[in-house]
Amino acid sequence: MVCLDQSRAEQAAVLSQRLGLPLVGRGDGLADEFVLEVTPQRLQLGRSGSRDEPLAVDFSRRRLAQRARGEPLVRAVEGRRSHPRSILDATAGLGTDAFVLAQAGHTVTLVERHPDVAALLDDGLERAGHDPLTHAIAQRMRVVCAEASAALDDCSALAAPEVVYLDPLFPPSGKHALPKKAMQWLRILGEQNGDEAALFAQARRVAREKVVVKRPVRGPFIADQAPDYTIKGRLVRFDVYSHASDR
Ligand SMILES: C[S@@+](CC[C@H](N)C(=O)[O-])C[C@H]1O[C@@H](n2cnc3c(N)ncnc32)[C@H](O)[C@@H]1O
Repeated sequence: MVCLDQSRAEQAAVLSQRLGLPLVGRGDGLADEFVLEVTPQRLQLGRSGSRDEPLAVDFSRRRLAQRARGEPLVRAVEGRRSHPRSILDATAGLGTDAFVLAQAGHTVTLVERHPDVAALLDDGLERAGHDPLTHAIAQRMRVVCAEASAALDDCSALAAPEVVYLDPLFPPSGKHALPKKAMQWLRILGEQNGDEAALFAQARRVAREKVVVKRPVRGPFIADQAPDYTIKGRLVRFDVYSHASDR
């Protein structure tokens, strides 16, 4: 981890201790490694020796660019009834989908197992909380750094989310251009992509209303299980598995 802003040295020291990452100087013997960087504006994840733009979570920029209503993901979660739901996004990544859901009025718990990625989410959420444009949306979001199965285990019957959302990393498809850089990096960071089928089965037990799974538009069903229905986007689709009582 590198601190690029001396006025934030104390914050960087606390974070490096929390994440168990040594604080090093810029370029200190780092060869092609992911490095968390504390800059004056934000926390970002760069790759030493790479010219790629670092990864960061910037919800404020997204707020201006997106309209949540009508998004296929929101339609998949809401079905015919658009009341606010409690949602557990078990594979939060950079929080793009979670933000769309929170923007539509839902309360979202973002579960991310990679500590660096979860730290980016925490940082983005904190900044969104200070921006009047995104403050109310940020209030509906909370980040948990954990393995999804542990987070789902922790949901007691009363606190169980109405919806569990899953967006595990897809296997790269030969048919399309390489996935966006952010996805490539998440793929490298999360190389041990656990057992999708077990996570799906657990999500179905815990969700009170439905499980929504993001897939490539022509990808196989998760755990080979056909959904009750699908909402299609341009490149991805959202498979919806409802409890009988919610259909
Ligand atoms: C495809 S990305 C999710 C992208 C996200 N939907 C977004 O909008 O940014 C998948 C993320 O889930 C995380 N992940 C995968 N399996 C997980 C698990 N079992 N528990 C927690 N996080 C997991 C990975 O570390 C990765 O960051």
